[in-house]
Amino acid sequence: MRQIDGYTKTCGLIGNPVEHTMSPVIHNTLAQREGRNLVYVPLRVEKGGLKAAVEGAYALNMFGLNVTVPYKSEVIDSLTGIDEMAQKIGAVNTLVRTETGFRGYNTDMMGLYRAMCSENIVIEGEDIIILGAGGAARAVAYMCAIKGAGSVYLLNRTLHKAELVASEVNQVLGVDIIKPMKIADYDKLPGEKKYLAIQATSVGLYPDVEDAVITDKDFYEKIHTGFDLIYKPANTKFMMLVKEAGGQAFHGLKMLLYQGVIAYELWNNITVEEEDALLVYGKMKEAMGIEE
Ligand code: ATR
Repeated sequence: MRQIDGYTKTCGLIGNPVEHTMSPVIHNTLAQREGRNLVYVPLRVEKGGLKAAVEGAYALNMFGLNVTVPYKSEVIDSLTGIDEMAQKIGAVNTLVRTETGFRGYNTDMMGLYRAMCSENIVIEGEDIIILGAGGAARAVAYMCAIKGAGSVYLLNRTLHKAELVASEVNQVLGVDIIKPMKIADYDKLPGEKKYLAIQATSVGLYPDVEDAVITDKDFYEKIHTGFDLIYKPANTKFMMLVKEAGGQAFHGLKMLLYQGVIAYELWNNITVEEEDALLVYGKMKEAMGIEE
């Protein structure tokens, strides 16, 4: 890391817990690579302390912040401005300093899109299955709709949550492409075409590495590409099932990479070269013990 001095700009991650975060690897590597005088640190914020933390960070002249679980929605109340898409999604993961306070953005969604582009995965015109209807799945549904997916089947264990998310996204964007379904009804998916499936539930996350939200091999016959938002483990049960059925499968580490890259771009008003992003990705894989 470059020598810290009186000019060093500080960025950080607020959340709880933050101990296992990979974000310092992303931002400190980019800053080092660019010779930029910036450091990024994890900042654990205890329950009830969010407002004081955001105000304090601003008062301390912090340059930018990321926000993680459990504060991505709650932080909106402490902002002076919010990006339109982050407002629609109802979740903010990046705060950019302005003259009057922090402005909120959501780089998770665009991070997923950029990760998919870098793997040559097409969204436009595609038939897509999203598994889950939580916060992550909701952002994925917005991304798919905004990027011109053909049709999007939103499958969730609890149907009414899928219905809520689908009607919200359709209504906000003025489209009618998100179709809610119960996960158990996956055999009713129209069968002529193969799908891109995005796994956005928490099922299969370490340590429950043997779990997948659907285990029936017939389902995976319908999938040409599987993208799991989970990156720990780096080869989830969902990914294994996709590959066993002949599809290609990806884990979520590149989404994490690009949400960070986009935040860094917003803070510094630059574009990060792909070569530099891939250098960071190499360091992230090293830190995770991922070899491929
Ligand atoms: P996040 O913000 O990470 O998306 P979340 O909002 O808690 O987390 O959402 C978790 C998602 O995983 C939900 O879609 C949840 O399904 P329900 O809405 O039916 O609860 C899904 N999920 C969690 N455990 C599950 C399980 N054992 N089987 C099926 N789906 C599960």
